[in-house]
Amino acid sequence: MGGAMKNRKALLVGCGGISGGWLRAVPRVPGLSMVGFVDLDLARAKKRAEEFGWREAFIGARLEEALDKTRPDVVFDCTVPEARWSVAQTALAAGCHVFSEKPLADSMENARRICAAARAAGRIHAVMQNRRALVPIARFRRWIESGALGRLAQLDADFVLGAHFGGFRDRMRHVLLLDMSIHHFDMARYITGANAEWVWCREWNPPGSWYDHDAAAVAVFGMNDGSIFTYRGSWCGEGLNDSWQARWRAQGERGAAAWDGEEGLRAEVVAKTGSFRSEMTPLSPPEEYDAWRKDGHAGIIQYFFRCLEEGREPETVCHENLKSLAMVFAAIRSAAEHREVSLEDVLTER
Ligand SMILES: NC(=O)c1ccc[n+]([C@@H]2O[C@H](COP(=O)([O-])OP(=O)(O)OC[C@H]3O[C@@H](n4cnc5c(N)ncnc54)[C@H](O)[C@@H]3O)[C@@H](O)[C@H]2O)c1
Repeated sequence: MGGAMKNRKALLVGCGGISGGWLRAVPRVPGLSMVGFVDLDLARAKKRAEEFGWREAFIGARLEEALDKTRPDVVFDCTVPEARWSVAQTALAAGCHVFSEKPLADSMENARRICAAARAAGRIHAVMQNRRALVPIARFRRWIESGALGRLAQLDADFVLGAHFGGFRDRMRHVLLLDMSIHHFDMARYITGANAEWVWCREWNPPGSWYDHDAAAVAVFGMNDGSIFTYRGSWCGEGLNDSWQARWRAQGERGAAAWDGEEGLRAEVVAKTGSFRSEMTPLSPPEEYDAWRKDGHAGIIQYFFRCLEEGREPETVCHENLKSLAMVFAAIRSAAEHREVSLEDVLTER
């Protein structure tokens, strides 16, 4: 990303599955060292520290004690959503910045509390939305942002995956919307550069489902650029599965672009009108995108620290990410109440 990085000390809280993705990235972030590992399950904290070679680091089960002993610059929160508010409150009160796993919180109320606490502490609390850090999504977005397709009319995302997790997800309510669609809704905001104004959603549990509760949903969002975002998702679909990133199609007034969620990108725009169907010409994928987006977790963590150094807010800073989380909770409310829901109402809890 250019330029020297300051030395930074980080403390990890929550040493479960996803923390490995963060810890693999740490050695690729210049100047970053891990000073502490905290987990309610001490054995997990110890295991992570050993596995990744941070043998001098503090190991503990209590965040307050770890903060006091190690004085980190930033806390990486890889705990579960229910712990998010308490981790944020404690870390921000100790003067740390927080970089957290998704989702921002387990409720809109707790998410708003986190935003208020970060503002009061004058610290950054941001969310890891790693699906923004992929070269194909950056290129797909650029087609729209550059105006190559004309004004955006519609963005569609399809996500069907037969995910046999076992464990807590099989018992969880709103499992698709809460645990997965947060990524796709956040991606829609990134791709369009717009925010949702209203949503209509329906959730259901497909026949033969191995989940206790609804694992599929359709949603239609009205975006504040006048476009419509449609979403069809299922974690309970065997066959013809989509990418984890979902499959995307953007329709503009002069052309369309498609992204298969992996490396496949294509777009075409009108070359000549006058006959029943216009003549189209293909576009090659845009070359310009932010360099950090090609480096997964390491790129995102470097971007986070670069923002701190430059006194800028990262694009997934809590009060921005709140707008992605609100799409999830508005969709859940719409499905429960069988009506269209205003995002403003969910953001301000009316
Ligand atoms: N970005 C992604 O692609 C992605 C992928 C998987 C998981 N996640 C998210 O990461 C988070 C963690 O998921 P996971 O799969 O690693 O779960 P996990 O259950 O494997 O790990 C969570 C860990 O946090 C610990 N913990 C819980 N509350 C704590 C507290 N108050 N203090 C200290 N430790 C605490 C648990 O003991 C456990 O070790 C979730 O929010 C999940 O949605 C994100």
